[in-house]
Amino acid sequence: MRIAMIGTGYVGLVSGACFAEFGLDVVCVDRDADKIARIERGEMPIYEPGLDELVARNRDAGRLAFTTELGDAVREADAVFIAVGTPTRRGDGHADLTYVFGAAEDIAACVSRPTLVVTKSTVPVGTTRRLWDFFRERRPDLPIEVASNPEFLREGSAIGDFMRPDRVVCGVETERARDILAQAYRPLNLIETPILFTGLETAELIKYATNSFLAMKITFINEIADLCEKVGADVQAVAKGIGLDGRIGRKFLHAGPGYGGSCFPKDTLALLRTAEQYDSPLRTVETVVAVNEARKRRMVRKITDACGGSVAGRAVAVLGVTFKPNTDDMRESPSLVILPALQAEGAEVRAYDPKGMEEARRLLPGVIWGEDPYGILEGADVLVILTEWNEFRGLDLDRVRRMMREPRIVDLRNVFDPERVVRAGFSYVSIGRPAIDGSLPEKH
Ligand code: UDX
Repeated sequence: MRIAMIGTGYVGLVSGACFAEFGLDVVCVDRDADKIARIERGEMPIYEPGLDELVARNRDAGRLAFTTELGDAVREADAVFIAVGTPTRRGDGHADLTYVFGAAEDIAACVSRPTLVVTKSTVPVGTTRRLWDFFRERRPDLPIEVASNPEFLREGSAIGDFMRPDRVVCGVETERARDILAQAYRPLNLIETPILFTGLETAELIKYATNSFLAMKITFINEIADLCEKVGADVQAVAKGIGLDGRIGRKFLHAGPGYGGSCFPKDTLALLRTAEQYDSPLRTVETVVAVNEARKRRMVRKITDACGGSVAGRAVAVLGVTFKPNTDDMRESPSLVILPALQAEGAEVRAYDPKGMEEARRLLPGVIWGEDPYGILEGADVLVILTEWNEFRGLDLDRVRRMMREPRIVDLRNVFDPERVVRAGFSYVSIGRPAIDGSLPEKH
């Protein structure tokens, strides 16, 4: 079976390489010639653990190719996956479908035999059917069918998520579409992965509802963490205690500075626009979006409070600026709000991130960047942990304390054991955990 994957961004490149690993013949297409040339040289456009080896192995095996010629790839393909970006449209929160319909235009212009076109990009409910109408109109001479096959890949563990998913969702309305997708995902039968066949709109909505639910789960535990601080409870234990209830589950209950990334912020907004359009409000999701926005500001207050009420003239050392570890992605990272706010309050902000600094330099002007975690600590008044990269867990706390002007840590990801940090001589503030001396906060 041959497939064409349009778009070699995060989703397209990972999905293309993984389908090749499943044994399919895959051609990945991107109109950015420079990007294609770099991938062919083995340089990945994104940082994703294991991706370079996966691409190299499948290219060497002759199952994975790259091209800028969409026509060549599409004409030969049984299925064409659209995996281009659907960013938030400026101003109104709707998903921008310019690239999706641009790809559809190109496909319609060159397809020469019955073909299945699959939306892998996250597209608003109703888009795949609109594409079907579009193809019927543009190519009445050919049976072009459509399907919706949303992805659930987490950055940093995208390959594992593709190869061992919790489920695969296929929105199909014809036998042929169903057969082709069943065949594409056949290797997953071996590990008994549930493959759900649904209607087009259902598949599209499953994607948005999943991401919005997960964003809600995170936002819920974040608010519970705030309450924990007030009542003297420990959010880690609360998360465990509720997560062990099988109906709730333990994942995505890690309190932090608010969710970010390329999906949750964009998809929650897009779902709200759909809800508005159909006059079917989603108050829970509206609240999630608002609470998450406010949370980033709240984190600024937490840092200034830890510094005695003001960071003016203080040196703030920030470890981690990406929206989560194991990625170089800066999209919608809480750091993009928190760091400029600290600067605006007069702080000298220094930062280090294992993978995100190249991009962050552009997005965070005025920040002083370090070569390694210790490179930003000399004379610092507070150390802020913003992203839970593993390498920060093993920091030599004695060395950190000796370097800092004030031994003070604000840990927005709860990576440290409070007792250990306090024993090492720091004042320590984390998320949703009681003061280490056991004192209860005052009631208001
Ligand atoms: C997410 C979805 O998980 C994935 O299925 C979808 O296809 C794309 O969006 P990703 O954006 O890569 O993946 O990151 P994820 O690991 O889900 O984390 C998103 C954000 O939530 C990060 O900012 C992370 O720090 C935050 N988060 C996650 C928490 O604050 N607490 C948690 O318990 C989990």
